[in-house]
This record gives sequence, structure tokens and C-alpha cells, in this order.
Amino acid sequence: MSAPNIETIVSLAKRRGFVFPASEIYGGLGSSWDYGSLGVELANNIKKSWWRWLVHERDDIEGLDSSIIQNRQVWKYSGHETTFSDPLVDCRACKGRFRLDKLQDVSCPKEQSANAGSGKECDLTEAREFNLMFRTTVGAVSAEDDESALAYLRPETAQGIFINFANVLNTSRRKLPFGIAQIGKAFRNEVTPGNFIFRTREFEQMEMEYFCRPEDAPHIHQEFIDAFQEWFYSLGISAENLKLYEQTKEELAHYAERTVDILYRFFPERDDEEKQFDELMGIANRKDFDLKAHSKKPEDREGKRINTDSNEDLSYFDEATKQRFYPYVIEPAVGVNRTLLAVLMDAYTEKTNDKNETRVIIKLKPELAPIKVAVLPLAKNKPEIVSMAKDLKRQLLPAMRTVYDDTGGIGKLYARQDEIGTPFCVTVDHESLEDNAVTVRNRDTWEQERINVSELKEHLQKRLN
Ligand code: GAP
Repeated sequence: MSAPNIETIVSLAKRRGFVFPASEIYGGLGSSWDYGSLGVELANNIKKSWWRWLVHERDDIEGLDSSIIQNRQVWKYSGHETTFSDPLVDCRACKGRFRLDKLQDVSCPKEQSANAGSGKECDLTEAREFNLMFRTTVGAVSAEDDESALAYLRPETAQGIFINFANVLNTSRRKLPFGIAQIGKAFRNEVTPGNFIFRTREFEQMEMEYFCRPEDAPHIHQEFIDAFQEWFYSLGISAENLKLYEQTKEELAHYAERTVDILYRFFPERDDEEKQFDELMGIANRKDFDLKAHSKKPEDREGKRINTDSNEDLSYFDEATKQRFYPYVIEPAVGVNRTLLAVLMDAYTEKTNDKNETRVIIKLKPELAPIKVAVLPLAKNKPEIVSMAKDLKRQLLPAMRTVYDDTGGIGKLYARQDEIGTPFCVTVDHESLEDNAVTVRNRDTWEQERINVSELKEHLQKRLN
């Protein structure tokens, strides 16, 4: 089983310290969320998995961490200043403001049940384009609308990669094909954010731009579509909750030759099976659009340079063929927050205990679990047991994230660890003081084994891996 809806995860996330509403003590800030002690660990583990899999385990991808605020020209030549917008409509009756293309997903505030625009209350204006980039000013400017100081918070991490193509190529001595990977925050002033951490104005992306010869792009594109499905399976997401979606010609971004989205079943409660799925990530063939757009040399049909501000030509010289060209780019782009939501939804299960009580178990893959092992004393009023448990925690800690907890009865402590996805609990009891052995309890099966302390670390390491 997986979570029946996002709401189940919202309440678990708040109750157990994964995700909290941001600025809650001041009434919150629409669709902003703070990640608590377990949420930040889970997000970090997702990012580590992605980075290890792409940057460390392959031999053809370099890492990068570029600035969030770049020269405004980056967003001029990438096309974001003119085209990164959503069609916005206002309702004269309910005063709501909606995305024209998402009216079916939001309801009119006056008529909770009807989709915006379809209810009798709604009286929509003509659509106008609303640019999604957050504006800011750089330096000590006199006026906030001083155009010369205008800058943007990046709406995607990708452009930081394209503008560093020559830097990475020259310093790493790479030859095509190779990729550049980056993880970082992105900001979009979304018209209709919502559904918990699914669509927010501040979020995190894991993007990789893979540069290749134009003729190799189609098959490399397909390889990454297949590889990313496998990566999601490796995070514990089940195949039945993932689906591929081939964007139609009308949906494709102006620069893309082909884009395939990987969808996740974020809305299992919806009757229409197709509407249960929404985008988890996109994998695009961006052709040579970006490298050309940021280069000083390319000209348009009238022979005019398309970029009059760049100091660099981002073309590639192939020593073997003695040809110079602009590489094509395959871009797998995935959201950290959407991945975290999908991972939590998919890991969610319920189990009935022998007292007929329903318990929540989050069956996270050990690699992703915020805490790997919890050491629990059976009697917290017995100093020898407490001391042995705390010693064990210290011994395990350098090898695996381990916590000590004595804030409840053992049944309650087990339930608490199940609910946050801790794969193993280690219980120290009265007998442990005699036989130097402890009970290791498995989160998923609730089975218990007696393990000698001298073998404990190795035993747990084997099972966690
Ligand atoms: N460089 C390409 C690019 O940014 P995108 O499809 O706009 O492509 C990639 O974004 C991924 O980033 C999405 O598939 C999604 O996982 C995540 N994402 C985009 N907008 C988001 C938002 N407002 N809130 C949370 N995640 C978002």
C-alpha cells in the first residue's frame, strides 16, 4: 500500500517533524514549508543518492554549484525574461487569481466544490502573461525599481550550468559526451502553488545537463529516461505509481525537440486514473539552444548576432573530425521536494498489531531513512541498562546514524520509530547485562533476533546495506 492522499503525509510530516508550515507563528506564508530534523535528513539522503549515482558512480559527469543570483543577461538570453510566464486570469466576482491552464485543479473560493471558472460565481477577465521570476535589486540602490540594478532569483539551476560550459570543459579536459550536475534552490512566483510541497515558490532542483553530438542525442535521451525510472525504483518507489508521459508538440518548450516526463501517482484519491498522476521530473532534449543562445558568435537569418553581450563562444571543437559545433543537451531535471513527497507517499503503510490497533510504518529504504538505528532501554530506571544502551549508541554512531530514546514504554518507542522509518531498533533488557546480547527488531516484519553485542555493528551494517 501507499498513502491514500497527500493530506495523510501532511499530518504525519508535521506530527513527526519532517515538514512544518513556514512562518507559522505569524500565520504562515502561502505554500512555504520548513524542513524539520527528519525532513532535512531525508532530503539530504535523496540528494546524496542522486549525486553518488550520477557524479561519483559514473565517469562522465562533473559537479557544479553556481550562484543563485546571476547577471540579468543570463535570463535575457535564456529567454526567461520574455517567455517564462503563465497565463493569468482574475475573477471579478470572487477576486480569485488563477492560471488559465490549471482552472480545473482549483476551486472558486466562493463555491468550494466547483472548479474555478466553471462555477456560476466566476466572471473571468481576459488572460494576461505573468512572469514567474522573482525580482530583486543588487547593491545599495536608491530606488527599488532601479532597472540598472535589477536581478532575478534563478527560476532553474540549468542556466548556471550552460554559462559555465567552457569553464568546466577546459578545466576538466573532458571530451564529448559528458555532463554537468548541480543541486540547488530555484524560485518561481507560481500563480497557484499548492498541494503541500508539490508546487511551492521556493524549491530545490537536481539538474544535469549532458552535452553530446547532435546525432547521439536521441539514444542518450532514451537511456536517461530508462535510467531515471530505475533510480526512482532504487529509492523504493513502486512501478505501479510511476508513469511516462510524452509531451505533445503543443506542450513542448520552444527549445525542446522531445521531452518525456516521469509522473508519480500524487493524487490516488481521484476517481479518474489519469488525473491521479502528475509530474515528478522532466527529461528534455534541448538541442543546441542554450549554448548557442549564450554565445557571442551565432547570427540570425539577417546576419545579426543573436547575443551582443556575451564574451564567450560556447562551441566545441572535435579533434577527431576537426569540426566545430554547438553540442546538443539532454537534461534530466528533478525536484528534491517532489521526490521527497513521492518517497514518503510510497513508503507509507499501515499494519494492525495483536491488540487490533492500526500502526503506521514508513518503509523507507535504509539508504534514505533519517535514522538508521534506535537504541532503546527496556527499563529507564535501571542505571546499568541505561548506561549499556548509551554506550551502544556511541559505538554505532560513527558508522550509522543512531539515536537513544527512553521517553516512553517499549511499545510506544517501537511505534514512534516505525512511523519515522527507522529500519532497526536495538533493545537493551535485564538479560543483556548477563549475556551481553541485545534484541534487534526489524521495522517491516516486527521480527526480533537476539544478537551478541560484539557482532551488533557488523550485523546491522550488513542489513542496512
Ligand atoms: N531546467 C528545466 C526545468 O526547470 P521544470 O520541469 O520546470 O524543468 C524540473 O522543473 C522539476 O523541478 C519538475 O519536474 C519538478 O520536480 C520541480 N519543480 C518545478 N517547479 C516546481 C515548484 N514550483 N515546486 C516544486 N517543485 C518544482
